[in-house]
Amino acid sequence: HKYDFGLVGLGVMGRNFILNVADNGFTAFGNDLDTEKVDALIKEGGNPKKVNATTDAKIFLDALSTPRKIMLLVPAGKVVDIVIENLLPNLDEGDIIIDGGNSFYTDTDRREAYLSKKGINFFGAGVSGGAKGARKGPSIMPGGNREAYRHVKPIFEAVSAKYEGEPCVAYLGPKSAGNYVKMVHNGIEYGLMQLTSEIYDVLKKGGNLTNDELHATYAKWNAGRLQSFLVEITSKIFQQKDDLGDGRLVDKILDKAKQKGTGKWTSQNAMDLGIPVPSIDIAVSMREISALKQERITADQLYERPTVECMDKEKLERLAEESLYFSFIITYAQGLHQLADASKEYGYELDIAVIAKIWRAGCIIRAGLLADIAQAFQADNNLPNLLLSPTFVEKVQSTVNAARKLVSYGAVNGIPLPGLSNSLTYFDAYTSTRLPLNVIQAQRDYFGSHTYERMDREGIFHTEWE
Ligand code: 6PG
Repeated sequence: HKYDFGLVGLGVMGRNFILNVADNGFTAFGNDLDTEKVDALIKEGGNPKKVNATTDAKIFLDALSTPRKIMLLVPAGKVVDIVIENLLPNLDEGDIIIDGGNSFYTDTDRREAYLSKKGINFFGAGVSGGAKGARKGPSIMPGGNREAYRHVKPIFEAVSAKYEGEPCVAYLGPKSAGNYVKMVHNGIEYGLMQLTSEIYDVLKKGGNLTNDELHATYAKWNAGRLQSFLVEITSKIFQQKDDLGDGRLVDKILDKAKQKGTGKWTSQNAMDLGIPVPSIDIAVSMREISALKQERITADQLYERPTVECMDKEKLERLAEESLYFSFIITYAQGLHQLADASKEYGYELDIAVIAKIWRAGCIIRAGLLADIAQAFQADNNLPNLLLSPTFVEKVQSTVNAARKLVSYGAVNGIPLPGLSNSLTYFDAYTSTRLPLNVIQAQRDYFGSHTYERMDREGIFHTEWE
């Protein structure tokens, strides 16, 4: 008999994903160059008729039913091209390759164009939810040939996370739509992570909250409107004991954050599009600042910082909860704004409501808020920005003042709240009828005759400035 689904790359994600496929009644065949990984999968699968694996690409391809459905879960970059070239000689027209990694969207476009000439359907499918998600139900963001999607649809819908019974996967659009959406998902992920971490900082420095109190606070928030995977795991992080010594692990972890690039790509591409995503930009910058540990230590000794004047715990916690809710909304708003614009620019035909819906479960940025966001875009498909949705005005209006108070508190006391202050500044600017950029236009015309427009009459103007 032939197997329903093939998977190349039996690392943690690949192994978990293929076992998930098998759990859902499909037969699956794995392929990896590493014998140990192949053996481990066969063993864990339990029944080779359901889950089998090989190191041999030819055996692998012969074992799959056609059109072959082959998912790649290998590191983004050159490896994807190498794997494709390896498979290519033994593929048949109509076969489907799905890249499940965090590939850069232009790489996906290039591969899709190359493979479609050979009659192969190539999908870029973002997969979110980490190792556990891959095993128990990730959110999947596929893009590629709409017609060919019907072959993978039943499998993806079965293995994906479910939100109130609805699968967290949907065909998103042509070409690299899936990878692009996953990239912005990660940009939002960076933003939310930065926000949850700086709120921890202000609670700790401004309210002297202990790890147990931080745990309780985040757990309480997670039971309310801030319900989200990231708030939930953060609450648990504060509880984790250190295996190698006394105290809590969180206090021993070096404060230098690594990154693999997806957040940076989101910011870079937003700049190319001309869409402001400052809550994401600053999250990338903060990982960069964090990496400059030695310089930070030196600089800390050169400058004095204010002594923190502690705030009443209850008041601080309330401001923090409202600020986090406010800035989460702003971060989603920016990311979705970018998606709406990219959709026009790259012809992705994205449906933002569908994207918000498939993010409601399974993925790293899943949150109670996403149900409201999905509804806002369902009510108005052409909403350029979430902040313009009537259903969000009250949510933002009722929390922005807490953000103002907390940002000022942080500024006065020398506690950096970059994600929050960028979110607030973005809000204040985006909601301003009049900004001072008239002066920038005047300056440009002054020094470079770059011309300007006027508010009171049509046309392009230049002045010989005195
Ligand atoms: C997900 C994540 C995942 C990503 C990690 C690490 O949705 O499951 O986004 O795809 O690889 O979050 O990203 P960084 O190493 O850049 O933090």
